[in-house]
Amino acid sequence: MNPKIIELPKILDKRGNLSFFEYPQQLPFQIARTYWIYDVPGGEVRGSHAFKNQDEFIVALSGSFDVVLHDGENEIKYSLNRSYYGLYIPKMFWRRVENFSTNSLALVVSSTLYDVNDYIRNFEEFKRMKNAN
Ligand code: TYD
Repeated sequence: MNPKIIELPKILDKRGNLSFFEYPQQLPFQIARTYWIYDVPGGEVRGSHAFKNQDEFIVALSGSFDVVLHDGENEIKYSLNRSYYGLYIPKMFWRRVENFSTNSLALVVSSTLYDVNDYIRNFEEFKRMKNAN
């Protein structure tokens, strides 16, 4: 699987708009865990790691930020700034989340429970593992 932007349904309503995602219609994996990143001070960077097994989907529920993905050879930057689409990040992609706007809110759903052993925190190790696949 490759990373991709997934457009979400948008129910326009003069009372306020509504979007959602479900497995398997919008999401390619079942959700085991949800977390969110907020109150990020200007200039801070989150992430800087890859996961051996978990898939994630990130939505900018509010504000904007950039998700920079590395596949071991190339880097691609995705700017997230709307609540009606998100970025699917399959396992084994190095990610960095940066350029958070004031009051931005990043919603992340994951295919697995939190597992400290699923993290690859060394970029050289990540490249070795990725290229061995
Ligand atoms: P981490 O994933 O390293 O943050 P980043 O978004 O910068 O990659 O997680 C930061 C801390 O939060 C770490 O000590 C583990 C804890 N944590 C949990 O306990 N459960 C979770 O679901 C997540 C994502 C993190």
